[in-house]
Amino acid sequence: MSPNVSNISEIAFACEKAGADAITAINTVQGMIINIDAKRPVLSYKRGGMSGPAVKPVAIRSVYDIYEKVSIPIIGVGGIMNGRDAIEMMQAGASAVGIGSAVYYYGVEVFQKILNEIKEWMEKNNYDSVKEIIGLAHDGN
Ligand SMILES: Cc1cc2nc3c(=O)[nH]c(=O)nc-3n(C[C@H](O)[C@H](O)[C@H](O)COP(=O)(O)O)c2cc1C
Repeated sequence: MSPNVSNISEIAFACEKAGADAITAINTVQGMIINIDAKRPVLSYKRGGMSGPAVKPVAIRSVYDIYEKVSIPIIGVGGIMNGRDAIEMMQAGASAVGIGSAVYYYGVEVFQKILNEIKEWMEKNNYDSVKEIIGLAHDGN
């Protein structure tokens, strides 16, 4: 789902009602860079999609809001660079996470590294299954 909307959770709810099996959130956040000497946007399409650490708070908030509105699983994506980010996304309500930009920064080894960091955090905090982490940041959990 695109985060470039005014109420992402309403749209997620409509998707669920229409028969969606799961929600993936978020896609990139629209942005623009202007070259002040050229006095024009840098990108030929003018607007571009932002990803990586800068968009993580938007992704976390979106997943948190969607989790409060739907009961289908959510795949949380946006700015996950390490195990702590993945756990934050799961506590917001994601059943699984997606990783894009971190591969650009760290290579494909990042998947195993993030998995190890998730396991380490779970062991330290006495969790046996990731299922116990999903939605933990919500009131009442
Ligand atoms: C180079 C690049 C290409 C992407 N292409 C697509 C695409 O074709 N379809 C799509 O839904 N999202 C696409 N995305 C968005 C990613 O799936 C993801 O939602 C976004 O990058 C945020 O996650 P990240 O911070 O882990 O990269 C693309 C992102 C990047 C950086």
